[in-house]
Amino acid sequence: MAHLLQSDILLLFLLLSLHVIIIAQENESNIIRPPSSLYAGKHPSSWPSSSGYFRFGFYPQGNEYAVGIWLVGRSENTTVWTANRDDPPVSSNATLEFTTQGILHLRTEDGMEKIIANLARSVSVDSASMLDTGNFVLYQNRTVVWESFNFPTDTILGGQNLSGSHNQLISSVSRSNHSSGSYLLRMQDDGNLVAYANNPAEVDPSDAYWDTGTDGWYFSVLNLNERGVLAMYSSPKFHQENVLANLSATGNETMIIYRATLDPDGNFRLYSHQLESNTNSHKWQILNDVCDAKGQCGLNSYCSSRGKDAECYCYPGFTFIDENSKSLGCSQNFTIDGCVARKDLVIHYNITTLDNMYWAGDPYSAKPNLEKEDCMKACQEDCSCGGVLYSDRKSCRMYRLPLKYGKRHGNITTTAFIKCILGSTISPPPETSQILISEGNQSLILTMGLGLGSVTSLCFVIAICSFLLYRHRLQNYKKLLENKSSVLTEQFTLRSFTFDELDEATHGFQDELGKGSFGTVYKGILPGDGKSKTIAVKRLEKVNEGETDQIRTEMTVIGRTNHRNLVRLLGFCVEGSRKLLVYEYLGNGSLANFLFNMNKRSVWKERARIALDVAKGILYLHEECEGCIIHCNLKPHNILLDDSLTAKISDFGLAKLLRPNQTCSTPRTKGTAWYSAPEWQSSGLVSVKVDVYSFGVILLEIICCRSNIEVQVSSADEILLSTWVYSCFIGGELNKLVVGEEEVDMKMVERFVKVGLWCIQDDPNLRPPMKNVILMLEGTMTIPVPPSPSLLL
Ligand SMILES: *[C@@H]1O[C@H](CO)[C@@H](O)[C@H](O)[C@H]1NC(C)=O
Ligand SMILES: *[C@@H]1O[C@H](CO)[C@@H](O)[C@H](O)[C@H]1NC(C)=O
Ligand SMILES: *[C@@H]1O[C@H](CO)[C@@H](O)[C@H](O)[C@H]1NC(C)=O
Ligand SMILES: *[C@@H]1O[C@H](CO)[C@@H](O)[C@H](O)[C@H]1NC(C)=O
Ligand SMILES: *[C@@H]1O[C@H](CO)[C@@H](O)[C@H](O)[C@H]1NC(C)=O
Ligand SMILES: *[C@@H]1O[C@H](CO)[C@@H](O)[C@H](O)[C@H]1NC(C)=O
Ligand SMILES: *[C@@H]1O[C@H](CO)[C@@H](O)[C@H](O)[C@H]1NC(C)=O
Ligand SMILES: *[C@@H]1O[C@H](CO)[C@@H](O)[C@H](O)[C@H]1NC(C)=O
Ligand SMILES: *[C@@H]1O[C@H](CO)[C@@H](O)[C@H](O)[C@H]1NC(C)=O
Ligand SMILES: *[C@@H]1O[C@H](CO)[C@@H](O)[C@H](O)[C@H]1NC(C)=O
Ligand SMILES: *[C@@H]1O[C@H](CO)[C@@H](O)[C@H](O)[C@H]1NC(C)=O
Repeated sequence: MAHLLQSDILLLFLLLSLHVIIIAQENESNIIRPPSSLYAGKHPSSWPSSSGYFRFGFYPQGNEYAVGIWLVGRSENTTVWTANRDDPPVSSNATLEFTTQGILHLRTEDGMEKIIANLARSVSVDSASMLDTGNFVLYQNRTVVWESFNFPTDTILGGQNLSGSHNQLISSVSRSNHSSGSYLLRMQDDGNLVAYANNPAEVDPSDAYWDTGTDGWYFSVLNLNERGVLAMYSSPKFHQENVLANLSATGNETMIIYRATLDPDGNFRLYSHQLESNTNSHKWQILNDVCDAKGQCGLNSYCSSRGKDAECYCYPGFTFIDENSKSLGCSQNFTIDGCVARKDLVIHYNITTLDNMYWAGDPYSAKPNLEKEDCMKACQEDCSCGGVLYSDRKSCRMYRLPLKYGKRHGNITTTAFIKCILGSTISPPPETSQILISEGNQSLILTMGLGLGSVTSLCFVIAICSFLLYRHRLQNYKKLLENKSSVLTEQFTLRSFTFDELDEATHGFQDELGKGSFGTVYKGILPGDGKSKTIAVKRLEKVNEGETDQIRTEMTVIGRTNHRNLVRLLGFCVEGSRKLLVYEYLGNGSLANFLFNMNKRSVWKERARIALDVAKGILYLHEECEGCIIHCNLKPHNILLDDSLTAKISDFGLAKLLRPNQTCSTPRTKGTAWYSAPEWQSSGLVSVKVDVYSFGVILLEIICCRSNIEVQVSSADEILLSTWVYSCFIGGELNKLVVGEEEVDMKMVERFVKVGLWCIQDDPNLRPPMKNVILMLEGTMTIPVPPSPSLLL
């Protein structure tokens, strides 16, 4: 699909450069020309559409006014758009002015001017119109230069799209307050339509509560048409459509206005407004249970639906922060953090069970196969534990406070254990208190002892505690020794690091080397006897929880790979939700940096060697190492160069090991799209040919020393590298690709270009296996003339 995608981008460029001209076709009587004004407190306060169904102007918000568009109804008006929705409302003295300079602005009582429509300086608007579709448009010489449809708030109307730069809806605070509320619906570039709890800081996958699962439909559009069909359309090349709702068969179509709104409760609903009979009703929605929208209830509380309403409840031992505003969440009377409490403080807990509970977020620890009692006990004894989700498959997942997005419903099969603080006692003598750095059990025993008030038993307990502590320390010390020795002796096996070790090695994860699709990489130094070693530590993000064993197994397989053109994995750390990989550090950065960011073009010979290195690394992964690894995510950014410019592939093995019918579930982010094969993007099915495709793209980039898509080029034909290379190849003008370079072996360039074109064939069966790729690059195998890589080119 990379090709198809690229041609879409091409289309985009064309569209941008052409200027789409839309001639105003509105009834002239409805055209608004400057100077013209609206008044919040007096007539005229709005401009109607020619049908009169929609109006643009001032509408009441509380005792004041906001500027927007609404659908006029007999009993109530429905606001479909609000200008500057997060600004405070204005008083009845405010005016809206459409000036002869072609500016539409709001003048508040104190003389402040606020722009309603942001336009480029060169644009001068000469008229405006409220259209019957509910779109308010501004014209320059009968060409639309601004439209409210391009700035949706919480609603789309018939004929309106969500895509590109206007790809999201944010719910309103309430039906009467149209400021930005708690929910977000986004038509993502990756093709997935996703609803999130609106986290102003950043959109976080863990805040998502609904999606269409259509990722891979890059640059899709969500469209509501005038006949009530709400559907997603993939980019034109694919002709994929996903009809979410189709109301077109109902009622008298010409008299109905359709509207899809992300409502204040986080539900995305499709409404129809029967204008003649003046009724409106919702016909379709994404959630059946109001509690499915994350964030109905605040932290440390859970949501349980009662019919159409969501009710918030505190977990046992917690109370509402504000009784009158239960959605703010709950807190504990005791705010002692068991882990940092004063040493002489003994905290008493009890554990309450709640059936049919679930909450979101990542546990800090997940243990499989634990009996219920042991799971409860594990939490009780761990000062970090605030609550546990226990599944009927005996997995015990422990969470820190605060607990987020809790939900209780008869359908949920997990059970929650909530640890609540009952109180605390101060333990007396200072000498003993040191021993009481309470590790659950021990402190409990101690409190019991105190309760008995028996000095002898106290001494006994102290003795036991001291012994336990001593043994614990001894064990730690031994472990430390073992670890040290393993560095010395087992240089070629994978080492298991503790988190603290890596924390220290990286100075608290300070020195960031880069961000990859699997996590952030930090530079660190590992102390050794005499000689310290520089390492790169990758903190994995978004790794499935509770599969620690599986992750260890995979790490071990990766650890067994050993090839000159692969980055060496030195070790790993798996502690609860923390998963880190330790790699050798390579001084010369990534191939992307080498090819695209260097001021000077590197020498052809060097590049040719790098290309061969990369090919050999891939061949090893595909055929020579234990249990065939498909990389799935090859790109110049994860190919690294060492001090002598030897290319080494990193990030391999992370996208699961090869299994029958394997689907590579790597994060499909925009940045990687250019390197991934069409069949993977459309069907998700994966073979080694996916890597061959990525290699082909990278090979062409290495030859030409430029990125696959480049905007700053002399002609449009050059934007897409594959198109350009193919046309140069067909036209016998390969010298254009390496223009200005000295010492270029043109025979070799031709060979490399032919291999590259074979590798990026749309049809995976036409792509050669890596073994042949290497033979062809080296010139020991003849290369037939490649066909056009894509039928569309
Ligand atoms: C414009 O609309 C008005 C009212 O809807 C109608 O009376 C008039 O004939 C229309 N004019 C044109 C040119 O279509
Ligand atoms: C709806 O809008 C119309 C036109 O602006 C206005 O006259 C009417 O009072 C509004 N109705 C309600 C219920 O606010
Ligand atoms: C609007 O302006 C008038 C005259 O300046 C003033 O008397 C009145 O208090 C103002 N109204 C509001 C709501 O501020
Ligand atoms: C407006 O557009 C017409 C045709 O599109 C053109 O002939 C005319 O010169 C334009 N007027 C201005 C002021 O740009
Ligand atoms: C909306 O999207 C549809 C489907 O891709 C497209 O046909 C239509 O032209 C778009 N409309 C606008 C106004 O962009
Ligand atoms: C609307 O909600 C916002 C955000 O909660 C709040 O700041 C604002 O005061 C509210 N406006 C009205 C008129 O209630
Ligand atoms: C919507 O439903 C109507 C009537 O059932 C049907 O004719 C039409 O093709 C449907 N539209 C889409 C996009 O599925
Ligand atoms: C649709 O509305 C028109 C005009 O009001 C009317 O003549 C026609 O019978 C209606 N059709 C249906 C199916 O209701
Ligand atoms: C928390 O403290 C308040 C007042 O300080 C008290 O009324 C309430 O009962 C306490 N709640 C618990 C669970 O102890
Ligand atoms: C634990 O504490 C809660 C809240 O104080 C109480 O409701 C519950 O009965 C206690 N459970 C046990 C087993 O003591
Ligand atoms: C709960 O389960 C029943 C049947 O098992 C199903 O009909 C219902 O839709 C489910 N409710 C929710 C909110 O998932």
